Amino acid sequence: MATETPEAFDFDTRHERRGTDSVKWDLVPPERLPLWVADMDYPPPPAVVEAIKRRLEHPLLGYTNVPDTLYEQLEQFQRAQHGRAMPKDEVTVLSATMPGVKTAIECFTEPGDGIVVQAPVYPPFFQAVRDNRRRVVLNHLHEHHGEYRLDLEELETVIDDGTRMLLLCSPHNPVGRVWTRHELEGLAEIAVRHELVVVSDEIHADLRFEEHDFLGIADIGSKIAARTITLVSPSKTFNIPGCSVAAAAIKDSEMRRRYRSALRALGTDHVTLPALVASEAAYAHGGAWLTALRRHLAFTVGDVRRVLAERLPEVTASPVEASFVMWLDFRRLQRRRELDDLELQRVLREDAGVELLHGPQFGPGGEGFQRLNIAAPREVLYEALDRICAALG
Ligand SMILES: Cc1ncc(COP(=O)(O)O)c(C=O)c1O
Repeated sequence: MATETPEAFDFDTRHERRGTDSVKWDLVPPERLPLWVADMDYPPPPAVVEAIKRRLEHPLLGYTNVPDTLYEQLEQFQRAQHGRAMPKDEVTVLSATMPGVKTAIECFTEPGDGIVVQAPVYPPFFQAVRDNRRRVVLNHLHEHHGEYRLDLEELETVIDDGTRMLLLCSPHNPVGRVWTRHELEGLAEIAVRHELVVVSDEIHADLRFEEHDFLGIADIGSKIAARTITLVSPSKTFNIPGCSVAAAAIKDSEMRRRYRSALRALGTDHVTLPALVASEAAYAHGGAWLTALRRHLAFTVGDVRRVLAERLPEVTASPVEASFVMWLDFRRLQRRRELDDLELQRVLREDAGVELLHGPQFGPGGEGFQRLNIAAPREVLYEALDRICAALG
């Protein structure tokens, strides 16, 4: 495998995605630029595509085991990226992250039980609770001028006798926070005291920016580790969400046994051959690409901020500590222009010709916000920003 230097990657070439059944591109009208669903318009590390091509030189695509080498690569990757141990015997590879969340709900709670959801948050968290006939226990994130933190005081007050679980989005989509040790310690103390099972969705963790070290809640201490299911995935990290795959790390052996049996019962243990090949290659050879991507994203965040500050100063972005979405605050502009959320969405879609994700979809606290996916070639992103500023400036 040739050594890849961060400079060797290109995130600016425009690849035509329309006509590929892309959710992001083919589900919106052709005149609209899509900056909504969280996939990137960048090809994955070259080693991933090479590995899939190489595998296809063998014509048989039969049932395939999760190879030991994938667990080894995941373990090495976690150690290199986050300095944490994720040994094979604690890990189970599964079909994707959300099936992993739903399996945990099914396995460790009963219908009617309360599950804490910290809003605004990735909308399927709410659906996962409701579709499984559990009850959303709402814990708002604390927001001040677009800056967010966990609201542990409120959390204490919303947990009731029937609350059994907490869904943690870490780092947080859409508000971009990498939770600090201090915040996680506070959360862990409450979860332990109230005997909550914590599902820590860490799908965005590998995309944390250089100055924000990521810490998983299971690494805070043994008590919280004994009640946590940690979900990781190469899907966002290396932009391979079409090769759906994730892994659940569970330190407690009894929880792990129960979770594995629920995965089998629900069929969520099933992983496809391309996903196995892609994820192993990504973990093994994608490090330099990932470094370059994070640098590129951090730089792009700065660019978007500059454009907004110059051309649309009433719209501001929350600090981004990880990943490739920006949480834009339109509230000041909405007040001046007397636009409600639906009218703002209409202007963005029909007048500006861009598709962002509508804040209210992220639950309470999402009103007045839109989520912008910045992982597009700069030509596309600047065109979209230009259209937004022209329509709303
Ligand atoms: C926090 C979070 N969890 C899960 C997912 C989806 O992961 P998967 O496709 O592996 O189910 C996303 C996708 O945007 C996400 O942002």
